[in-house]
Amino acid sequence: MCGITGYIGNKKAYPIILNGLKRLEYRGYDSAGIVLNENGTFKLRKTKGSVSDLIAKCKDLNSEATVGIGHTRWATHGVPSDINAHPHISNNGKIAIIHNGIIENYATLKIMLTSKGYTFKSETDTEILVNLIQYMQETQNLDLATAVRYALNEVIGAYSIAVIEVDQPQEIVVARLSSPLAIGIGENEYFIASDASPFIEFTNEVVYLEDGEMATITLKGVDVYKIKDNSKVNPQIHELKTSLEKIEKGGYEHFMLKEIHEQPRSIMDTMRGRLLVEEDIIQMAGIWDYQEKFLNAERIIIISCGTSWHAGLVGEYLIEDLARIPVEVEYASEFRYRNPIITDKDIVIAISQSGETADSIAALKLAKEKGAFIYGICNVIDSSIARLTDAGSYTHAGPEIGVASTKAFTAQLALLAMIALKLAKHKGTISKERFNSLIIELETIPERVAEVIKNTESQIKKIAELYAGAGNFLYLGRGYNYPIALEGALKLKEISYIHAEGYPAAEMKHGPIALIDENMPVVVIAPKKGYYDKIVSNIQEINSRKGKVIAIVTQGDTVVKDMVTESIEIPDVSEYFTPILSVIPLQLLAYYIAVLRDVNVDQPRNLAKSVTVE
Ligand code: F6R
Repeated sequence: MCGITGYIGNKKAYPIILNGLKRLEYRGYDSAGIVLNENGTFKLRKTKGSVSDLIAKCKDLNSEATVGIGHTRWATHGVPSDINAHPHISNNGKIAIIHNGIIENYATLKIMLTSKGYTFKSETDTEILVNLIQYMQETQNLDLATAVRYALNEVIGAYSIAVIEVDQPQEIVVARLSSPLAIGIGENEYFIASDASPFIEFTNEVVYLEDGEMATITLKGVDVYKIKDNSKVNPQIHELKTSLEKIEKGGYEHFMLKEIHEQPRSIMDTMRGRLLVEEDIIQMAGIWDYQEKFLNAERIIIISCGTSWHAGLVGEYLIEDLARIPVEVEYASEFRYRNPIITDKDIVIAISQSGETADSIAALKLAKEKGAFIYGICNVIDSSIARLTDAGSYTHAGPEIGVASTKAFTAQLALLAMIALKLAKHKGTISKERFNSLIIELETIPERVAEVIKNTESQIKKIAELYAGAGNFLYLGRGYNYPIALEGALKLKEISYIHAEGYPAAEMKHGPIALIDENMPVVVIAPKKGYYDKIVSNIQEINSRKGKVIAIVTQGDTVVKDMVTESIEIPDVSEYFTPILSVIPLQLLAYYIAVLRDVNVDQPRNLAKSVTVE
C-alpha cells in the first residue's frame, strides 16, 4: 500500500503535493518523492524515510511548476531506499511515474526490456512499468496516454498510477486496477490522489476511477476511458461530504475498523504472486532458496509476542499437521532468558508485524548466536527483524495504524498456511491432489472473510450492546481455534479494558469453570470440524452453570445454535483455515464493545504499536 497524489492547475504544485503526501502518510512511510514538470524539465526529489524527510530535501525547491506528482511508499519490491523511492523516470528521462500496487509479471517484462537494451537502477516493479511505457511510445510512435494504455494491457497485477511526460507539461495520465484513485475537480485545476484527503480544502467534487479505467487530465478537463479498449466512460461526479479525518480513515470511525474491513484485501495481497493455483505451486523464494535447511530441519521454534505469538500457535498446528515437522512456540521474552537448547538443525521463525519488538529481536539474536537458521515473518519492510534474519517473507498487509493488531494477524495466518502447505508438498507429507484442493480453497479465503464481515457485523453490533457492561469474559476454543480464543480475549482486554481470559475449552474444568455463572459471557469457537463433539459437550457444561454462550459456528449448524444464547455463523472451510475466519467476529466484537465503552480504540491506554523496550 502506498499513497499517490498530483496536481495540475495554475497554483504552485509542490506545496499542494507535499501537503497531500503528509495526509497520505498513513498508507506508507518508508520513502517519499515528488517530481515537477517545470517548463519541460523534470525537478525530482526523493528520499528514504518519511514525508518530513522529503520536505527537508525540498527546502531549495522553490519551483513555480504547476504540474507534478508525489508518492509515499510502503515497500513491496525492493527495500526502502532513495533509489527505490518513487517517482521513477524512464531510461530516456522523459516519462515519470508514481505507482501504488504490485506488477506481478514484472520479471517477464524486465527480461523483455533488458533484451531491448533497457537498464534499471532500482529493484522496483514500477521502474519496469515506466520503461514499458517508453518502449510502447518509441516503438509505435504513440502519445503518452496511448502508450500508458498499451503498457497496462501487458501488465498483470494491481495498480493506481499517475504518469507525466516532460514534453507534455499540461497533462497527467492516471489509471487504476484494484488500487484506489480519486480525481478532485476544482476550478481550472485538478487533483489526483489515493483518497480525497489531499484536496479536501480545494474542492468537494470528486470522480473515483473504477477498476480498468484510466483518465487524461489537462487544464481543459478530465477524459475517462477503459484501459482495455479505449471506450469512453462518462464519469460520475460525487460530492464530498466528509471531514479530513474521516477520509484518512476511509470513512470509518477508527483505523481499527478500517483495518478489519481491509482484511479480504490484505490477505489477498499477502498471497499475491505466491499462491499460483494454475501452476499448482506456492512460490516463496525465502523458503525455497533454503529448501535443504527447511526439509532437513529437526525442529522449528517460533518466537514472538502477543498477537504474533497467537499466530505462531496456529502455525504450530499447521506445520505439524501438514508438514510433520516438530514445532515449539515460545514467548520471545521467556526464550531469551531461559538458556534454551538450540542446534544448527533448528530453524527459528520470528513473527513480528512491526519487526521492532525488543524481546523478539533479543530472542532471535540469541538463537542466531547458538547456530540456528533464522527466518522472519514481518509486515514492516526493512524493519530490524527483517534485516537480522537469514531469510524471510513479508506479510503484505499494508500499514497497520490501530494499536490492536487485526489485518497483520490474519496476514500472518495466511502466510503460515502457505509455508505449511509448501513444506508439506516438498516433504511429501501431503498428496498432490490434497495440496491442489487446499491451495484452491486458500485462494478463496479472502472472499470468505469478506462474507463474514458482511454477514455478521450488524449482528455483532447488537451482541456488543448486550454485553458491553460485562465485567469479565471467557473465550474457549480447541485445536486450531484455541489460539483464536486467546486472541479474542486479548483483543477485548486491550481495547475495552474488560478482563478476559482465553483457554483451551477442555481446560475449563480444571479451574475456570468456577467462574461461570449467569453473569459470565463465554465466547466459544465451535466450528463443525475435528473437535466439534467435544466442544458441544463443553457448551453443555457452561449451560448447566447458566453461563451465557456466544458461539462462533459453521453456517447451517443448528445443533449449537439451539443450545446457545447467540450464534455467529462463519462459512464452512477446511479446519486449517478456520482461524482466519473465526477471528473476524471476535475482532468486531471487541471493537464494538470498546466503542460503546467510549475507549480510545486506536490508541488504548498504556499500549504502543511497536514495543521497542523489554
Ligand atoms: C495486540 C498486539 C500486540 C503485538 C505484540 C507483538 O493487538 O498487537 O500483542 O502483537 O506487541 O508485536 P509485533 O508483532 O510487532 O512483534
